[in-house]
Amino acid sequence: MTNNSQQPKPVLNRLVVIGLGLIGSSLALAARQQGLAAQVVGISRRDSTLELALEAGIIDRAEQDLEAVASELKAGDLVVIGVPTLTLPAVLEDCRRLLASDVTITDVASVKGSVVNAAVEIYGSMPRQLVPGHPIAGSEKSGVTAAVASLFVDHRVILTPSEVTGSDHIKLVTDLWCGAGAIVTSMDVREHDEILAATSHLPHFLAYSLVDTLAAKGDNHEIFRYAAGGFRDFTRIAASDPVMWRDIALANKDAILVILDQVMGNFNQMRTAIEGGDQDYLMDVFTRARDARNHFGKILDSKALSSPMTEKTINYRVAPGGNAQGDIRVPGDKSMSHRSIMLGSLANGLTEVTGFLEGEDSLATLQAFRDMGVVIEGPEQGRVAINGVGLHGLKAPTKPLYLGNSGTSIRLLSGLLAGQSFDTELTGDSSLSGRPMGRVANPLAEMGAIIETAAGGTPPLKIKGGQTLKPINYAMPMASAQVKSCVLLAGLYTEGQTSVVEPAPTRDHTERMLRGFGYSVTTDGSTASLSGGGSLAATRIDVPADISSAAFFMVAAAIVPDSDITLRHVGVNPTRIGVINILRQMGTRIELTNEIEVGGEPVADIRVRYAPLKGITIPEDQVPLAIDEFPVLFVAASCATGETLLTGAEELRVKESDRIQSMADGLVTLGIDAQPTADGIRILGGQLGSGTVASHDDHRIAMAFTIAALRASGEILVEHCNNVATSFPDFVGLAQQVGISIDLESA
Ligand code: S3P
Repeated sequence: MTNNSQQPKPVLNRLVVIGLGLIGSSLALAARQQGLAAQVVGISRRDSTLELALEAGIIDRAEQDLEAVASELKAGDLVVIGVPTLTLPAVLEDCRRLLASDVTITDVASVKGSVVNAAVEIYGSMPRQLVPGHPIAGSEKSGVTAAVASLFVDHRVILTPSEVTGSDHIKLVTDLWCGAGAIVTSMDVREHDEILAATSHLPHFLAYSLVDTLAAKGDNHEIFRYAAGGFRDFTRIAASDPVMWRDIALANKDAILVILDQVMGNFNQMRTAIEGGDQDYLMDVFTRARDARNHFGKILDSKALSSPMTEKTINYRVAPGGNAQGDIRVPGDKSMSHRSIMLGSLANGLTEVTGFLEGEDSLATLQAFRDMGVVIEGPEQGRVAINGVGLHGLKAPTKPLYLGNSGTSIRLLSGLLAGQSFDTELTGDSSLSGRPMGRVANPLAEMGAIIETAAGGTPPLKIKGGQTLKPINYAMPMASAQVKSCVLLAGLYTEGQTSVVEPAPTRDHTERMLRGFGYSVTTDGSTASLSGGGSLAATRIDVPADISSAAFFMVAAAIVPDSDITLRHVGVNPTRIGVINILRQMGTRIELTNEIEVGGEPVADIRVRYAPLKGITIPEDQVPLAIDEFPVLFVAASCATGETLLTGAEELRVKESDRIQSMADGLVTLGIDAQPTADGIRILGGQLGSGTVASHDDHRIAMAFTIAALRASGEILVEHCNNVATSFPDFVGLAQQVGISIDLESA
């Protein structure tokens, strides 16, 4: 056991830092303060620097050159070269001459290609003892007096080892940086230099250039006096060390020139736009850049919901019991949010959306349209403004469209992208990458689309543009609104009438919203039809609260005696109200009030109160109407007296997880008799116990087991709840508000 008063064991023997600039001296200081090395030796040609470093406790021992210490160094010792980039080859030459081959060497230069080239030239080939490195940290201040031990905490250090680099050497360097609080990753040399040219080197040159331009004006004194925040923010880094940046400019010339040319091209376009009063161009660039900056800002603050490599796993620890009382509005409907972006983008004119769901799934759709050149403002508190480009105005994306966890995005997009003039590729996360896409690829192929899935009919989807699509009359083999919508959206790009016949009613938001955009869609019994060749007129859309999210709190109220929960402004489209019908049949008291119609969709407040629940045989016609609500309905069934039987629901096996198996496993863990069948489940009501359940990265499974805790005898730990953010960003806050006690644990 370590205790705080003990110094941790050093991770290396002797640390020799050559060059006591900001980085070298900060690393030496961190090593001393954290006890990372048995001895820290500083090397500088200047006496004054060495004196300052000794005085400030940055180093234990000062030397003027490597020769003074080289013969003492052996395996387990580490030499860090912290000199400017162009001076580095000379130091490396000293290393070759003076150091034994088992002494580890690393550097901190911002350019890695030049270090590797110098090493190959000096040693004849890459020496196994050299681990090129680059801490992404620093400030505009320089020199030993600027040293701060915390400079590297939570900052990245990129190592660019080659195949010959020794793993013992990599480990030593990694241990040092980790000890200083940094996050160590590795990268290919070329990739490093290209990325750094764009993200670090270019901004410095822009800042130097702007300040120099203004400083060259005769009246610069006045200009600088009045220069406000923008100038100050943008030019802080122009106070950086000129030698260092001169060296970087020369050492990373190739990569810098590429990005510099791109920016200069952009500048020229902007100049032309300003000169010609091209408002659209300016709005396009500024909006895209602002949104990208907001997105990157979240990553910079490590707040992005989906930064895959670094994301921490979130578990919910839910205490048993709670009272289930409240008056709340859950976030916007996911299905409608997706469609508002898609149809708004394809319309002519500005579509304004309120109540948009800011969940990862609908944001994936939004990003996909931005990637295809649509200017979309927001979302800001559920408000989105989409500058529609018309049915034929999308532009080819420069990279595959990444749709995260979202089945609705990939399936609906495949339909409308099949009709475009350009090729696209659609990808997703590991759950989406395992889901069946043959169900959309097959009818699209019948329409003449060229669409390729991975083996097994899963994503990625590769869609070849420029095809002439033919209308079809498609009898869907399964009741799927996603497939229906996909075919109808492809139908927009055909000449003639496309019809889809569904085996059972499925949600009809696509049809209703198309009509809201002035596009004629007919529904005749189980057949929805439209004719291609029309256009969509921009409109306003008010997205109501999502009944699929409300369902969690409906069940919360349904299982807790004396509960009373009101859910405001919920979409109660007849194709979505299976959860109301099923809960009512089980005995729950549910009242709908304030029933109105908003933008062609029925909306109501839903009040739910407890009454004893009884098990039922769920009518099969309710299955598509409650398709997303079954995980939490299974929790209701577990709290009912008697048996609940679900059949005809094999679709649940191909959702974000196999929802029959995921729920059965978790319920059994909690002591419930739950028996999965091929197309459903049989659940015998009983006492929910306590335990650890897996969400299988499925948002609805995670939320269902959270609700289960209300009636559990002990704590429930729900694992891997990150994906709750795909559909219900503030689930935890609202759950706490109605009386559920959840602690978030990051694993
Ligand atoms: C959705 C349709 C349903 C549903 C999904 C959203 C939609 O999928 O499960 O969460 O927005 O069209 P299927 O149509 O494949 O059943």
